[in-house]
Amino acid sequence: MTKAKIAVLVSGGGTNLQALIDAERAGRIKSGEIVLVVSNNAAAYALERAKNAGIESLTLTRRDCGGQAAFEEKLIEALDARGIDLIILAGFMSILSETFTSHYPKRIINVHPALIPSFCGQGFYGLRVHEAALSYGVKVTGATVHYVNEIPDGGEIILQKAVNVRPGDTPETLQRRVMEQAEWKLLPRAAELVCRRLVREKGNKI
Ligand code: GAR
Repeated sequence: MTKAKIAVLVSGGGTNLQALIDAERAGRIKSGEIVLVVSNNAAAYALERAKNAGIESLTLTRRDCGGQAAFEEKLIEALDARGIDLIILAGFMSILSETFTSHYPKRIINVHPALIPSFCGQGFYGLRVHEAALSYGVKVTGATVHYVNEIPDGGEIILQKAVNVRPGDTPETLQRRVMEQAEWKLLPRAAELVCRRLVREKGNKI
């Protein structure tokens, strides 16, 4: 295997997906290729981004599948049918059960918009994370890319980057700065690091 096959799971705007697509095109991700985008929201703009990049996409919702277990079963089916090596959660706003995460040990990564262990875990997602950081009054926040296990935001940390909070920040201005200065840089770097490891490990098995 020369490249790891990547699936990106999304729910919304997909700016992190875009950062991954751009990094692959620019040769900053060279040990992996994005072959699938899965959204749990049919209206996600991320689906447009996948289409524009010529990447296969699927929409799978818990409701259409008839519950979390059936959703995860369908998701595993779709991922395994395509021989996916690495799953990247890029703004995927749903918690995956242990049945799912244990199927892909050290093969799922997530980007979280804070410096874990601050402002993370159940209920901390999207703008809420930045609202919590501002209301606590921290002067530094940031982003974390970590492996995904059965504990929400609890898997091993891969990369982190700090970002300063500025006087007058709103959740929206802070979110944007954390994305620009940290998430969009860290996620492609972490993807390349993990893909390189996966390619090496697969090579060793032959
Ligand atoms: C990003 O800030 C991402 O870190 C966050 O949602 C946003 C998605 O933006 N994810 C979480 O909060 C997960 N716990 P995007 O759709 O533009 O990439």
